[in-house]
Amino acid sequence: MKKRKVALVTGGAVRLGKGIAMALAREGYHILLHYNHSKAAVEQCRQEVGTLGVGVRLLQADFSCPEGISSMWSSIPSGWKPDVLVNNASVFMDSDMKEAGTKSLEHHLDINFTVPYLLTKLFAKDKEGEGVIINILDTRINRQDENYLDYALSKKLLAEFTRVSAKILGPDIRVNGIAPGLILPPPGGNRSYLEERAQRIPLQRVGDVEAITQAVIFLISNHFITGQILYVDGGEHLL
Ligand SMILES: NC(=O)c1ccc[n+]([C@@H]2O[C@H](COP(=O)([O-])OP(=O)(O)OC[C@H]3O[C@@H](n4cnc5c(N)ncnc54)[C@H](OP(=O)(O)O)[C@@H]3O)[C@@H](O)[C@H]2O)c1
Repeated sequence: MKKRKVALVTGGAVRLGKGIAMALAREGYHILLHYNHSKAAVEQCRQEVGTLGVGVRLLQADFSCPEGISSMWSSIPSGWKPDVLVNNASVFMDSDMKEAGTKSLEHHLDINFTVPYLLTKLFAKDKEGEGVIINILDTRINRQDENYLDYALSKKLLAEFTRVSAKILGPDIRVNGIAPGLILPPPGGNRSYLEERAQRIPLQRVGDVEAITQAVIFLISNHFITGQILYVDGGEHLL
């Protein structure tokens, strides 16, 4: 394999993750494409990334078992240890204070926080020279909503870890976050819900995947930014 930089995108087979993987491939990165259930989609994505003239390798792992992360990391082929890590994979389910127990909280924390936390440690342990981590957050980190409570808590924790790890991992590794707003409806969901909500945000429109991929490329290429959280949300965080 020609020595080019490698980027690992978690949840890279579909939607925002796929957009990020394709954008990084266009920048010349070889792509480590993580997926869980989206087998057909990841094969399609592998093919599309391949047409851009870079290498692609697939990594399958279920993040609801964070203890499996170190074996996923060990399975990365020789010469493919990433220079860029994008923690994108996430679970997004409704939950509220009336739900008993901690099952939903634990599930959200495992996938949305513990796995990015573990991957950050593995990335830092193996990285020689400069590296970049991007954590995909959510504009909800800035709010106190009762809906999607456990999801929001997991993203708030990841936002705090973004800042702390940026402080710890300098000077070689930069860590930043992107907090998207109204970009895509949940899988199978209705776009009219986003359009109706968009009328209440300053830019009064729904965003798109390109707005997120532009932010990813910007944060990777700017060498003097670390510990930042970039809201790509049409101003929703101002509400
Ligand atoms: N969509 C939006 O408008 C929006 C708004 C704010 C923030 N965000 C954030 O942006 C990121 C991408 O959003 P999205 O809407 O594109 O996400 P999505 O459609 O919900 O996709 C989530 C990805 O996470 C992976 N995933 C889910 N459960 C997993 C598990 N147990 N183990 C491993 N991987 C798992 C899925 O992999 P498989 O499909 O292979 O199973 C999928 O690729 C997320 O971090 C989300 O919180 C999105």
